[in-house]
Amino acid sequence: MTAPKDFNDRMLSLGLARVSEAAAHASARLIGRGDEKAADQAAVNAMRDQLNMLDIKGVVVIGEGERDEAPMLYIGEEVGTGEGPEVDIALDPLEGTTLTAKDMPNALTVIAMAPRGTLLHAPDVYMEKLAIGPGYPTDVVSLDMTPSERVRALAQARGVEDSDITVCILERPRHEDLVAEVRSTGAAIRLITDGDVAGVIHCAEAELTGIDMYMGSGGAPEGVLAASALKCMGGQMWGKLLFRNDDERGRARKAGITDLDRIYSRDQLVTGDVIFAATGVTNGSIVAGVKREPNYLQTETILMRSKTGSVRRMIYRNPIK
Ligand code: FBP
Repeated sequence: MTAPKDFNDRMLSLGLARVSEAAAHASARLIGRGDEKAADQAAVNAMRDQLNMLDIKGVVVIGEGERDEAPMLYIGEEVGTGEGPEVDIALDPLEGTTLTAKDMPNALTVIAMAPRGTLLHAPDVYMEKLAIGPGYPTDVVSLDMTPSERVRALAQARGVEDSDITVCILERPRHEDLVAEVRSTGAAIRLITDGDVAGVIHCAEAELTGIDMYMGSGGAPEGVLAASALKCMGGQMWGKLLFRNDDERGRARKAGITDLDRIYSRDQLVTGDVIFAATGVTNGSIVAGVKREPNYLQTETILMRSKTGSVRRMIYRNPIK
């Protein structure tokens, strides 16, 4: 049977929500148990099982790692029943394994799906990221600007003082200079210990989260997931791959990347329509975490489609048998 050309994102999106819900359910019993690996494995198993029920001819392009280091949901793994449209899958079954193990906010299960060949095959290296929410002129900030120039430009575009801007940054020693420079402008900083997919998504709902801009380096695979979310919600994002050694450059070339210095815009990270689902594992400002009651588990999922810009928040209650 030949695969249908139509992406059929409208119907597939509901299936995608089930996939992220299942991963959150599975990791729920491991919240706050200090075991990152077990929490991640539970999410991986559940996500893979659900994904394989979808009528898609899917290939994991952002996954758990290279085939030799990840037995499941590795890059290149074919998923789905093989009966539907040809799609790329980007996933992070548990984005924030440490957040989950320590019961800290904003751990999510995350998955995006797009027509085959439209998601950047980002290697497992770092990416310099910059993101802002919707409603700003195109390229009002850029990766070529210094951090303080970005704060100033965004404040001017919003018609506020620099000190009214809040920037989200991963708390890491490598970001000490970045933090110092942003602070020198008077802007506030929300430091997060992990979870930069959520960090970037925060920009898209600034009035809810209080975050205007995301800056700093984090995982490149997470960059593609974040760009997928912003493409649905609105907002601008840029990413540049960072390489620490030849092995990492080799990973990029293996993934088909020839220009190692390229700055990717949101729509170059995700070149076509995309659907995105994320379910809260621990409580966060985007979605609530898994709620465990004596007889049921409840999750909240954000489900979005770039084609329509639709954003759904779905509560799912499932009896515990
Ligand atoms: P995990 O869920 O795999 O632990 O990743 C969490 C995370 O914080 C990502 O959100 C982020 O992109 C990356 O790790 C940052 O990497 P590092 O911890 O090496 O700075």
